Amino acid sequence: MKPGLRSQTQPTHPSRPVVWKGVIHHYARYLPVSKSTPVITLQEGNTPLIRVSNFVEACGGEFELWLKCEAMNPTCSFKDRGMTVAVSKAVEKHAKVVICASTGNTSASAAAYAARAKIRCVVLLPHGKIALGKLAQALMYGATTVAIDGNFDEALRIVRELGETGLVEVVNSVNPVRIEGQKTAAFEICDHLGRAPDFHFLPVGNAGNITAYWKGYTEYFSDKETSSLPRMFGYQASGAAPIVEGRPIDKPETVASAIRIGNPASWEGAAKALKESNGHIDKVTDAEILAAYQLLARAEGLFVEPASAAALAGIIQCTKQNLIPKGSLVAATMTGHGLKDPDNAIKTAGVEPVVVPAQREAVLKVIGV
Ligand code: F0G
Repeated sequence: MKPGLRSQTQPTHPSRPVVWKGVIHHYARYLPVSKSTPVITLQEGNTPLIRVSNFVEACGGEFELWLKCEAMNPTCSFKDRGMTVAVSKAVEKHAKVVICASTGNTSASAAAYAARAKIRCVVLLPHGKIALGKLAQALMYGATTVAIDGNFDEALRIVRELGETGLVEVVNSVNPVRIEGQKTAAFEICDHLGRAPDFHFLPVGNAGNITAYWKGYTEYFSDKETSSLPRMFGYQASGAAPIVEGRPIDKPETVASAIRIGNPASWEGAAKALKESNGHIDKVTDAEILAAYQLLARAEGLFVEPASAAALAGIIQCTKQNLIPKGSLVAATMTGHGLKDPDNAIKTAGVEPVVVPAQREAVLKVIGV
């Protein structure tokens, strides 16, 4: 275990609660920051790792599953870990404008951290393909919000071209400092479990996060045998599965709008993680994603967004195929909050509120006791 990672979270006095000051403060020596880097933080990180035995039981597994609940970050997704680093570095360079392409969460996070840093943020979104809550976030945080008549891959191409002009700072995960910030989630998991899991499941879109987790795990155990490291299991939606198919997808489609991506920028990073960890990448259908999404909410009281549920659908698929040995320690990243996508939630729940007169008897009748 990396010396000091765990001890930094321990209170100096038993009655004094730990004050969490964010990812940069906590992991500065593992990040590309120096004393002169201005720290732009919303106290991201330190998210709960929750054991979900009801879910495992419901899918017939015989392993221990822990969910890293990244929805508990300030803008309700894992993006904040990388964004605190990216926006801090942008401010250090005196950038006046940060820019990103996004399927929603990156834009929400960039907009929030730019607001905090008092700099401008421009976000490029695929028009009409963004979950409602994420659009609300970008608009509320005051980002210049541009909806392009095209998909995420086209938006990212334009952003990269604009980045080359030097007029704007790109804060997509093509900016390597984003990956550095995101790797801290792997540190936290190891600190929490006291070891790495045997398997780590996560959804794959632009492939930055699988790249980041693998970097985090390998750095944490740099002094140890590779046998301490987890096998990385990534899941794409079947209509947007370029890495699984081995070719870019022109018109990616899936209900999980966060991972509707046809040509991932960090493809190589994902390939490295999969190869070095003896991992696995596969695809899950929209129906499997939505079933896992609803099962988690009902079995555990945890409401994640559809993209996160792709990892859960992957776990269900592996359980059916007997790929997870009995007694394994399994982690999965729940990348974003279910409230970001109320449209899909209401459709998937498939029920409506029962409307009754404002009378006790009428309510009792509905309760049926
Ligand atoms: N889950 C959620 C909720 C996401 O928002 C994303 C990516 C992913 C999973 C996939 O992560 O791209 O690192 O493989 N969202 C990006 C965005 C593309 O623009 O918000 P990845």
